[in-house]
Amino acid sequence: MFANKLTQKLKIQYPIIQAPMAGGVTTSKLVAAVSDSGGLGFIGAGYMTPSQLREQIREIKAMTKNHFGVNLFVPQSFHASEGDIGFAQQILDPFYQKLKISQSKQVDFPSHDKQIETFINQIKVIIEENVPICSFTFGIPSKEVVAELKRHSILLIGTATTVSEAQEVEESGMDAVVLQGSEAGGHRGNFSESSLEKSMVGLMSLIPQAADHVNIPLIAAGGIMDGRGLMASLFLGASAVQMGTAFLTCMESGAHAIHKEKVLRSKENEVVVTRSFSGKWARGVENQFIKDMRGEEKILPEFPIQNTLTQGIRKAAGQQNQFEYMSLWSGQSPRLAKDQTVDSLIKTILSQAEKLKNS
Ligand SMILES: Cc1cc2nc3c(=O)[nH]c(=O)nc-3n(C[C@H](O)[C@H](O)[C@H](O)COP(=O)(O)O)c2cc1C
Repeated sequence: MFANKLTQKLKIQYPIIQAPMAGGVTTSKLVAAVSDSGGLGFIGAGYMTPSQLREQIREIKAMTKNHFGVNLFVPQSFHASEGDIGFAQQILDPFYQKLKISQSKQVDFPSHDKQIETFINQIKVIIEENVPICSFTFGIPSKEVVAELKRHSILLIGTATTVSEAQEVEESGMDAVVLQGSEAGGHRGNFSESSLEKSMVGLMSLIPQAADHVNIPLIAAGGIMDGRGLMASLFLGASAVQMGTAFLTCMESGAHAIHKEKVLRSKENEVVVTRSFSGKWARGVENQFIKDMRGEEKILPEFPIQNTLTQGIRKAAGQQNQFEYMSLWSGQSPRLAKDQTVDSLIKTILSQAEKLKNS
């Protein structure tokens, strides 16, 4: 009933994509359940080593015969002086103390070259394991990488936060583009638009304008949780939706129990954007860490430096069930999140959409 050119290309029944969510949310159970329910499951592999990625791909292949994809972070160059790092460590020290752990002064940052090496090895795994779909966020990979993946007939999906970025994705030769609206949970995928304000375009504006200026299929992402969001996105010109928060609270997701609970109890005005956790703007449920860091967040080191510096805090907070210091990523529609199975989420979306179609 919802088949279109994109669903045919992706070999899925319904235009519903489970957002890749790096950091342990996209378990094999979640990805396989989505693909088995007629949608497209995605591994959020941004923080994975190539061998961890290979292992998860094989695990999912053993669980489903259906298509699924892998999402990667495109490495970006970054710079931080010893002084910047020392300053950030000083600001973070009280949080380490609150959690009764010590902050190691000698932190190992992955160099840009090392990140590129890991990225290339992740790409190799995707090719060797015959993964049919690969998506990217935080930028566009090099021409060589795009050509190599295309040579192996792998479908490529980029991420954009503005029409201009979507045009850049199209020009790079990708097959489709995720339009990430300002409502979206998790990190912003902007790469050309350097200021936060300019990259924060709502989906209601973004989809139809992209539909008028971009020729590859559009995938809408941000605040979509049910059949209403799916149908609205399709009417505005998208060919599919990519949903993160709606899948994050599903039983099969690997999100921390407290993260799920906080999203399930939050309201739309309690999710905010912050760059305090990682050095990159991201949307999540506001907590003490975000509030305490607000004054300094604009002068913190860039991603992935700040991400590495807060790693100890996030890990200890998770182990100690201290939600005030965890990153609780969520989109702007938490009131619509439910504690349910993937099967029930997808069936509900389809029946709501069916009713809307016939009304
Ligand atoms: C916990 C979490 C982690 C995310 N990680 C990634 C990621 O690794 N790669 C990516 O392209 N997008 C990531 N996103 C963003 C999603 O792709 C998508 O844009 C977003 O979830 C849409 O908004 P919604 O959460 O309101 O559905 C993440 C989102 C969340 C909530």
